[in-house]
Amino acid sequence: MLSNEADGSKKRKSLHGHWSSRMAFILAVTGSAVGLGNVWKFPYVAGENGGGAFVLVYLACVILVGMPVMMSEILIGRRGRRNPVATMKLLGEEEGSSKHWQIIGLAGVVAGIFILSYYSVIAGWTLAYVFKSATGAFAGSTAETVGAIFGSFVGNWQALAFCHTLFMALTIFVVARGVERGLEQAVRFMVPALLLMMVVLLGYSISSGSFSQGVDFMFSADFSKLTWDSVLAAMGQAFFTLSIGMGAIMAYGAYLPEETSITGASASVVVADTGIAMLAGLIIFPLVFANALDPAEGPGLVFQTLPLALGQMPAGAFFSTIFFVLLAFAAWTSAIGLMEPAVAWLVEHFNRTRAQAAVIVGLGIWALGFASVLSFNVLADFTFGKGTIFDNIDHLTSNIMLPLGGVLIAVFAGWVMCRNSTADELGGAGTSYKVWRFLTRFVAPIGILFVFLKAVGLLPDLS
Ligand code: PFF
Repeated sequence: MLSNEADGSKKRKSLHGHWSSRMAFILAVTGSAVGLGNVWKFPYVAGENGGGAFVLVYLACVILVGMPVMMSEILIGRRGRRNPVATMKLLGEEEGSSKHWQIIGLAGVVAGIFILSYYSVIAGWTLAYVFKSATGAFAGSTAETVGAIFGSFVGNWQALAFCHTLFMALTIFVVARGVERGLEQAVRFMVPALLLMMVVLLGYSISSGSFSQGVDFMFSADFSKLTWDSVLAAMGQAFFTLSIGMGAIMAYGAYLPEETSITGASASVVVADTGIAMLAGLIIFPLVFANALDPAEGPGLVFQTLPLALGQMPAGAFFSTIFFVLLAFAAWTSAIGLMEPAVAWLVEHFNRTRAQAAVIVGLGIWALGFASVLSFNVLADFTFGKGTIFDNIDHLTSNIMLPLGGVLIAVFAGWVMCRNSTADELGGAGTSYKVWRFLTRFVAPIGILFVFLKAVGLLPDLS
C-alpha cells in the first residue's frame, strides 16, 4: 500500500514545468535565499543586537533549525508537486492525517505577500542607489554627506514610491514569464557576480577599514548582553535569509527532478547563503568602525557605509554602480520567490493564467507596500509595538510567522509523514537521514517554541 503510494507520487508532474537540471535548482534556491536579507538586513540586525553573541546564535539556528527545515520543505514540495497549499492538503490526506495542513500553505502565501510589500520598498532603494552612484553622488563623500543623502532620499515618499513601483513591475514581469525562462537565467550570472564583487569589497575593507575591530564585533560573544528578544531576532533572521518557513522553497521543490539529492542541494544553498552574509558583515563592520559610524544605525546601515567607502575608492562611482546593480538583482531573484506561492496557488486554485496571477498578486503587494513607503517619512513618528509600521510588519513576518511556519513544517515532515515517505525522498535511511529526522522531530520544533515563549515572557527564568 505504502509503496504504491510512493510510486504514485513519483509519477506526479508539476503544472508549472521542471528545472532543467540539478544546478538550475540550486541556483534558483540560492537566488531566493541570497538577497537583501544577507547584505542589507543581516549587518543591520546584527548591529542592533550587539554583534558577536547574536551572530553565533544566528549560525546555530541556521545549522540546527534552518538546514533541517529547508530539507523538509524541499522534500514536501517534491512529493506533492503542487503549490504549497495544494501540496499540504494532498500530503496531509495521503499520510493519513488531515487536509487542514493546508493552513501552512495559506499562512505562507500571506507571509510572502507581507514580506514582499516591504522588501520591494528596500529593493527600490537599491535601484535609486544605482542611479545615485552612476551620477557620482558619492564622490569624495564623508560620513555626514552619505547620511544626508540617505536621509533626504528616504524622507521623500514620492521618490520611494516611484522606486517601489519600478521594482514591483520588474518582479511581476519575471514571475509572469514562468519558472524556467524567467528565473534560471536571472540567477545564473547574478550569484557568482555578486560574490566576486563582494570579494573585491572585502579586500578594500581589509586594507582601509578597522578590520580587526570589525571582526571582533562580529565574533567575540558576550552572552550576558543577549536578550531573548535578540535570540528571537537571530532565529527570525535565519528563517528570513534562507527563505524558509513560508512555502517558497516548497514551491521550488515542486519543480525539482526526482533524482536530485535534497541533502546535497540544501547544504550548498545554506553554505552559499551564510557565506555571503558573513562576507557582508566582514565588509561592513570594519567600515563602520573606521568611519566612526554607529553599528546600530538601523535599515540605512548598508546604504551609508558602502557609498562612503566606495566614494573614497579609485573608480568608486563605477564599483558602487556595479555593487548596487548586483544587489538589485539579488533582491529581484528573492522577490520572485516571495511571490511564487501566491501566484502558483492562484493559477491552480482559481484557474488563472500565470500572467494574470502575477499581475493580480503584484498589484495587491504594490498597494500594501505604501504602508512601508510612508513609514520612513510621513508616518515615521507613527510608532507602536516594535516601532514604525515597517518595523512591525518585519517583526511579525520574520520573527513570528516564519518560525511558526517552520515549527509546523518540521512537525509535518518529522511526525506526520511516515518514515517510508521521507526516507524515499531523502535517498534512504542512512546517517544523514537519521540526523535530519532527529533535528526535525525534536530540535527544530522544541527549539523554536522555546525561544518564542522566552521572548514573549511566557517561560520563567530559572536563575
Ligand atoms: N531570503 C531572502 C533574503 O535573504 O533576502 C528573502 C526571502 C526570499 C524570504 C524569499 C522569504 C522568501 F520566500
